[in-house]
Formats: sequence, C-alpha cells, structure tokens
Amino acid sequence: MLDENLVEVIGLKKYFQVGKNQILKAVDDVSFSIKRGETLGMVGESGCGKTTVGRTILGLYNADGGTVLFNGIEVHAQKGKAYKALTKQMQMIFQDPYASLNPRKTVGAIVGEGLDIHKMYKTKEERIEKIYNLFELVGLNREHANRFPHEFSGGQRQRIGIARALAVDPKFIVCDEAISALDVSIQAQIINLLMRLQSEYGFTYLFIAHDLTMVRHISDSTAVMYLGTLVEMGHTEAIFEKPLHPYTKGLLAAVPEADPDYEQSKPSPILKGEVPSPINPKPGCRFFGRCNEAIEICSRVRPDLIAVNEHHSVACHVVNQTNPISKSEA
Ligand SMILES: Nc1ncnc2c1ncn2[C@@H]1O[C@H](COP(=O)(O)OP(=O)(O)OP(=O)(O)O)[C@@H](O)[C@H]1O
Ligand code: SF4
Ligand SMILES: [Mg+2]
Repeated sequence: MLDENLVEVIGLKKYFQVGKNQILKAVDDVSFSIKRGETLGMVGESGCGKTTVGRTILGLYNADGGTVLFNGIEVHAQKGKAYKALTKQMQMIFQDPYASLNPRKTVGAIVGEGLDIHKMYKTKEERIEKIYNLFELVGLNREHANRFPHEFSGGQRQRIGIARALAVDPKFIVCDEAISALDVSIQAQIINLLMRLQSEYGFTYLFIAHDLTMVRHISDSTAVMYLGTLVEMGHTEAIFEKPLHPYTKGLLAAVPEADPDYEQSKPSPILKGEVPSPINPKPGCRFFGRCNEAIEICSRVRPDLIAVNEHHSVACHVVNQTNPISKSEA
C-alpha cells in the first residue's frame, strides 16, 4: 500500500559557510511531511529559511544533515539518471515569473524545455500539441506560444511558469512566493488555478508565502518557520483559529481581521524587532530575544516540536509545560 505521505522531511539541515568560522544555519533540524494530494503552507518572516527548505527538498542544494524522502526515495542519495527521473516528478514555481523566464526564448520553447529534457514525445507534432494543451490548461491561448516573455503581463507570465512546471507531469510542486509579485485580483486567479489543477490531477504542493490569508485559503496544513526552525505546525484551521506559539500569534495579529469584535478581544502581541541573524545562532529558543512570554529555560534549551494533539504541534517551553500530551510523555 502507498504511504499516505508523498514527501517526508526528517531532521533536515542546510548550513552556508559565510566567512571564516561563520556558519549560517538557514535550516536547522526541520521535520515535516506532506500527504499526497494535499497542500502544506509555509509561512514566516523574510530570511526564516523557507526558500532554502524548498530548494533543499528538491535536491537543488545538498543537505548538511537529515533526510528527504520523496515517494519513499531518498532524494539526496540519488545521482545521475535516478536524480533526473526524480526531478521530473518534483517542480518549482518561482516568485518572479519574469526573471525566471529566458527573455530570448519564445514561451512555447520555454514550456517545451522539460518535454525535451525528459524526451516526452515521439514526433514534433506531438510536442507542439502538448505545448498547446499546456497553454490551454493554464488559461492561455495556443497562439501565445510564439511570443516572448516581455509580451505578457505578470499574471500571464506566472501562468507560463505554471505551464512549464506542469509540462513534465510532476507529482509535487514547490510554489515559492508564486503569487507575491502579482496584483491581489490576479493572485486570486492563480490560486484558483492551482487549486483546480490540484483537484483534477492530485498534485501535492508546498506553498510558501508571506500572505497568511492566501495560505489559509489554499493549505490543508500550515507550518510556521522562524530562523531556520519550525515553531508550529498543524491543520490550517487549528493554526489560524488557535495559534499557540508566541511567534505565530504575533504573525497573525499583524493580519487585518474582518471581524471587528475578534480584533478587539484578541490579545495582540505585535511582533517587535526583526529576525536576528542565523549566523552562529545562540543556544536556546531562537525566538527568545523577541518573546514577551519567555521564562528562564528559554535562553538555554531549544524547545522541541511537540504534539499538543493529533493535528497540532508546537515548539515552545511555555506551551509545552501546560500541554497534557508532553506532560504525560515526560
Ligand atoms: N546561497 C546562500 N548563501 C548564503 N546564505 C544564504 C544563501 N541562501 C540563503 N541564505 C541565507 O539563509 C537564510 C534563509 O534564507 P531564505 O532565502 O531561505 O529565507 P526565506 O524565508 O525564503 O526569506 P524570504 O521570505 O525573504 O524569501 C537567510 O539568512 C539568507 O540570507
Ligand atoms: S520557548 Fe520561550 S522564548 Fe521561545 S517562544 Fe516559547 S516562551 Fe518564547
Ligand atoms: Mg524565500
């Protein structure tokens, strides 16, 4: 029987050497899984390590520790043809659709690249028909195929980026800020397109975004990253309705609420300061310097991500002290 998780990330680490004796811990012991056909949203302020997680999962970066399993296959252990076969199944859609499209190639050629690399057609006619079908799938006209990237609007370019990702018939797509550069109305169109494609083809997504409202809309589960670590994770409704980690509460407090009563009643621990540098991080909780709930142990011991219930995990000493599951395990 197939494992219900398509992607499993266990203790993943990605460090960058940024100077003599300086290690930047962009991703530092992160574990999570994504079920087949579902979307995991990933949020966190700039520099928290979201893109690095996405790129390392896909094998675009080597890992400095931990394991990534895709469909049960260890991504970082694959080389040559075996890795190439994996890349066909795992694709990425980027934030800046313009920078990620070669300006000197027609968009038809760009979308067709993956078909060429993986030899996914027998005749020229079949190739061009596949490209046309992809254009129609993402809401563009087949006549668009002969034009160049600069002839398109931002939303259209993002559709081309999606068509390019879909060309190789992937199972898993990392959407890294895929809608952030677009106008709000266009963002909604692209989100709806991604959701429609998911329900039709069963895609699994890692959806990285700053916009919490969009993440809530598209994601089955949500992971909150802070300074290279996962601080809270669970069913999207649990995270948004009952956030427990002080950082998640701060992130959500910054989102304007439609319900004014809720706005007045909720405690608003607005985030102070900025994400500190991940270079040679101090021991203890990474959020310590910005947290107004901190206790003595926080500066010394890094909190583990512990289940509060079946659908919700938190890495915080204060939350875990009052958590019946972690107490009974202790
Ligand atoms: N190739 C690299 N070399 C050195 N440092 C890097 C490299 N890529 C990322 N970093 C650093 O790793 C940390 C995490 O970066 P990353 O781009 O993953 O964050 P992010 O959460 O995606 O941020 P944003 O929301 O701005 O896209 C940052 O401190 C960044 O400066
Ligand atoms: S572990 Fe301590 S410092 Fe970290 S979020 Fe919880 S209370 Fe704040
Ligand atoms: Mg990023």
